[in-house]
Amino acid sequence: MTGVAILTSGLGRRFGDLEAVAPLDLEVRRGEVLGFLGPNGAGKTTCTRMLSTLLEPTCGSAIVLGHDLEAGAEAIRKRVGVLTEQPGLHPRLTPREHLAFFAGLHGLSRPGRRIDAQLALLGLEEHADRPMAGFSKGMAQKVALARTLLHQPDLVFLDEPTSGLDVDSCRVVRDLVLELRRRGTTVFLATHLMDEAERLCDRVAIFRHRLLALDAPEALRARFGGQRVAFRLDDVPGDLESVLREVPWVRDYAWQGGELLVRVDQPDLRTPDLVGHLVARGARVRQVRAATATLEEAVLGTLGIAPAGDDA
Ligand SMILES: Nc1ncnc2c1ncn2[C@@H]1O[C@H](COP(=O)(O)OP(=O)(O)O)[C@@H](O)[C@H]1O
Ligand SMILES: [Mg+2]
Repeated sequence: MTGVAILTSGLGRRFGDLEAVAPLDLEVRRGEVLGFLGPNGAGKTTCTRMLSTLLEPTCGSAIVLGHDLEAGAEAIRKRVGVLTEQPGLHPRLTPREHLAFFAGLHGLSRPGRRIDAQLALLGLEEHADRPMAGFSKGMAQKVALARTLLHQPDLVFLDEPTSGLDVDSCRVVRDLVLELRRRGTTVFLATHLMDEAERLCDRVAIFRHRLLALDAPEALRARFGGQRVAFRLDDVPGDLESVLREVPWVRDYAWQGGELLVRVDQPDLRTPDLVGHLVARGARVRQVRAATATLEEAVLGTLGIAPAGDDA
């Protein structure tokens, strides 16, 4: 087996005139958690569905777990697990019955212990034998996850796995992703939540119909963000703009919540100089702190993308 879980080559999908996914070249490494991050309508679900054989591409090709997406679709389906955005669960079945049904579809013999293990992994033991009709969104999502993982897939697609969940269920889902990572399972995590991608993923692909960037979260933050120093000032120089522009390593600045946020390269080295400069120009510095840019601020700000909801 190679170290590559997914390799796409010009893989794309159009819906009529709409290019939901422009020809995409992407490599996902075995064992990594790859965040596929972009605003609503960016084409994340479309991409997830193509790679998990649920939707045919309109151009290009891909190798998934060593199999061609088209010719090897059946082999791929056996080795991947998919958590779709709207997991269909049958309200009259209990979680155990539901899992038993899917164990049958996967052709698992004697699935009892595996089902128990999945129920335990997701903290569902107490609810295992109740019909799912009255289940909360969080509970239903746990059952859907148990189903996704039942056949111990090598590659798991999770499409917005925490969407609409309460805080506790979110934590269960996120802990599960980290557990999968420990086990060496490859995870393709489509999300519009920057914070989620940053906390869970080895690498993050920034995607909006096309791949905009792909790197480790820290590297993306360093590349796009730089870091910031936050000042509380008592006397603000009237010509603050030009005062800051005199400093070549100041990238930009903004006011936020009464603080002056200055983006600089190497803030550890620069902060004393910056304080000195501001004081020399008449500022009274009351407080200084390091304000690391979040990945969200860094990437979306740089690319001019709103975090969610305005792209559909
Ligand atoms: N079956 C479909 N028919 C027509 N348009 C679609 C279909 N599925 C998705 N789209 C469109 O493709 C774009 C990308 O959708 P989607 O992949 O769901 O984005 P995301 O998951 O990033 O929110 C959207 O503009 C959406 O309306
Ligand atoms: Mg989606």
